Amino acid sequence: MTVMTVLTGGAAGIKHLVPERRKVDAVCSTSLSATPNHEFHTMHRILVTGATGQVGSAVISALLALGGNLIRAGVRDISKAAEKWGGDARLQLVPFDYFDPARQDAALADCDSLFLLRPPRLTEDFGDLISRARQHGVAHIVFLSVQGAERNRFIPHHKIEQRLVAGGVPYTLLRPAYFMQNFTSTLHAELVRRHRIFLPAGNARFTLVDVEDVARVAAQVLTQAGTWHHRQAYTLTSHTPLSFAQMADQLTSALGLPISYVSPNPWRFYRTLRRDGVEPGLILVMMMLHMQPRFTGTPPVTPTVFELTGQAPVEFAQFVANHRDELLPVPDKLQS
Ligand SMILES: NC(=O)c1ccc[n+]([C@@H]2O[C@H](COP(=O)([O-])OP(=O)(O)OC[C@H]3O[C@@H](n4cnc5c(N)ncnc54)[C@H](OP(=O)(O)O)[C@@H]3O)[C@@H](O)[C@H]2O)c1
Repeated sequence: MTVMTVLTGGAAGIKHLVPERRKVDAVCSTSLSATPNHEFHTMHRILVTGATGQVGSAVISALLALGGNLIRAGVRDISKAAEKWGGDARLQLVPFDYFDPARQDAALADCDSLFLLRPPRLTEDFGDLISRARQHGVAHIVFLSVQGAERNRFIPHHKIEQRLVAGGVPYTLLRPAYFMQNFTSTLHAELVRRHRIFLPAGNARFTLVDVEDVARVAAQVLTQAGTWHHRQAYTLTSHTPLSFAQMADQLTSALGLPISYVSPNPWRFYRTLRRDGVEPGLILVMMMLHMQPRFTGTPPVTPTVFELTGQAPVEFAQFVANHRDELLPVPDKLQS
């Protein structure tokens, strides 16, 4: 099988996609041979963390769609998860908490692969969890990182990536671009109530990706046999970077009513979000996330989603069409 390998190119950290036949990973053989349980599995067992969240639930859907594996959803609240996933015999709901080692041990027992996600605002570097995974003989960890994490020491994903590289368990780093689903989550209230995008992003262009594409890639990487994806980093983007002004234009055309883009100065952004009840810590993260590309330039686009899934990535216009009902502003009577 010929696949694309992401290589780090020189001190600038520029990535190139190079077709390459992959090598067997020595770390992987060591880890697998240390795990007698794997010899007796007829099906691949995969633990998905963050399973009730945006990405985790999409990963579970993508894994279920592929079929043929035993999927464990690691959740904090089993009854809440059962409302969402209950009744599907292919999915096992297990208690899991990033702060509870005993639950981690129980959830990791007999697992072949781990989909690891860092929930927003968690400050852990997952060193202990990675050690536990190694002790349990987990053969592959797929970590949901973020585009550019390798160059940005200030984001927590950078440290977690380093922990994984040093952790002794074969890993794959998924580095997605800006989620299109931010429009149905963090940016949603502003969009539907005030018909606008309100972000201090200036004219910077952002690389974008649909979470469904991230989940499809994750499902492939978690289930493909062999060591092809070990020690690889995949940056996941759609083809077309856009500024928020361009996204507002596309929303305007698709929704059939004017959506504006306002780029406030940092102080106005902070004050407005505080008035709306957003926590200071989250506002600062949003400021960093949306102001940074003004200074660092547009991040690179990659063909990796297509390379790994065989499907062209969803573009923003398609995302808006797929989620039109959700993105439509609420009627005037519901506005605050
Ligand atoms: N937004 C973007 O544009 C973007 C782009 C690239 C990468 N990312 C990365 O994507 C990640 C966020 O993924 P997401 O959007 O799927 O997050 P999310 O929707 O907020 O989901 C977070 C998940 O983590 C679970 N969780 C929180 N605290 C936990 C704990 N102590 N123990 C166990 N589970 C816990 C939550 O469970 P409960 O249901 O119990 O709360 C939920 O399932 C972040 O690392 C972010 O940096 C985001």
